[in-house]
Amino acid sequence: MKLSRRDAMRGLLSWAAASPLSFAADEKKVIDYKDPLYGPINIFDFAALAKKKLDPMAWDYLDGGSEDEQSLRDNRDIFSKLIIRPKALVDVHKIDMTTELFGKKIEFPILLDPSGGKNCFFPGGELEVSKGAAAQKALHITNGGIDDFLESGKGPEVWWQLTTGGQLTNAQSMRSFVKRLEAQGCSGICFTIDIMHVSHRERDMHNKLERSWCETGLPKRDAQGRMPEAKNPWRAGLYPSRPFPTPTWNTVRDLRQMTKLPIVIKGILTGEDTQRVIDVGGNGVIVSNHGARQMDHVGSTLEALPECVRAAGGRIPVMIDGGFRRGTDVLKALALGAAAVAVARPYLYGLATFGQRGVERVIELLKTELALNMGLAGTPNIASIDRSLVRFRNETQW
Ligand SMILES: Cc1cc2nc3c(=O)[nH]c(=O)nc-3n(C[C@H](O)[C@H](O)[C@H](O)COP(=O)(O)O)c2cc1C
Repeated sequence: MKLSRRDAMRGLLSWAAASPLSFAADEKKVIDYKDPLYGPINIFDFAALAKKKLDPMAWDYLDGGSEDEQSLRDNRDIFSKLIIRPKALVDVHKIDMTTELFGKKIEFPILLDPSGGKNCFFPGGELEVSKGAAAQKALHITNGGIDDFLESGKGPEVWWQLTTGGQLTNAQSMRSFVKRLEAQGCSGICFTIDIMHVSHRERDMHNKLERSWCETGLPKRDAQGRMPEAKNPWRAGLYPSRPFPTPTWNTVRDLRQMTKLPIVIKGILTGEDTQRVIDVGGNGVIVSNHGARQMDHVGSTLEALPECVRAAGGRIPVMIDGGFRRGTDVLKALALGAAAVAVARPYLYGLATFGQRGVERVIELLKTELALNMGLAGTPNIASIDRSLVRFRNETQW
């Protein structure tokens, strides 16, 4: 039978109406595919592009871990050991990723981690990242130095300030730190507790990376491709010591006395320490091994998550970071009880390749991948994601 053009068109239209594909979100969005920004379609593509673009020294600083890089591999490998158990025939025509952290609405549970040394990847890196976060409505945990932007009122709606304890050494500096943050409209303090000594990042040692270049940006190589000689490169064989006592649980207690801002402790890896955070008045934890850049051989963060979630017992939110590159990775952590997931290297890949636009695109890719996979898994909102959504491979009874 010969099909008329009209019949063919009618057939096509009725197929389109019946197909769930016709309901693709965002389908009216205009994308200029000639723009190189849209070349990379996932975080791994962005990583490959960043590697090509950056000086190898900067790439190693961005991507590397400490010592054997065992935890670096663990952070990624664990995801292949968890399997998603999708729920069938749930209405998923609308996906809602919104959630809440400390009374603030969060558009989607993917946060931007703090990261130092951004100028090695892009000039004015911190500001580029914060602008990207603001444009995509992501929560930004900032290393600081972007006061004008935050004060302009155009900064991210929700942002937290990082401290590694430098501002917490005495009551006076602690007080002025929290007063400034409160006046700036900060929504939380993120206290990273796993960097009391800087680890051996052996790629940086082999590269003779000058420590200060991470702040100033890398110098240009000469015509022979050589870097200027580093005066204070990363080195092995130095006995660890710090000029002042390092922070303790009492530091968090003191900080608690000084501010009502939520205090989030980043770098927790055990249930016992999660309980201690609650005991000293902390408001949340980020289960983190510092992107496998500090102590090695601590396993993946996803392995540490369940004991921390159990210890928290719903009293404080437990967040997590380390190796998250896919929407399905995020979904798995949410299923194991994480309140949100944070990322660093993914947005740094975006920063290194396209500055602010790259940061934005990376966030967009991650959040749309999460939304898509929530839809495919039959979990149209965050509340519908629970432990039953995942199983470990070895739980299978063959
Ligand atoms: C280049 C780089 C610099 C970082 N600097 C800091 C920092 O200054 N403070 C901090 O708490 N964490 C820092 N981190 C760790 C991240 O906040 C985060 O814990 C970790 O990188 C998450 O893993 P991911 O990079 O695999 O997403 C840094 C990570 C990278 C990659």
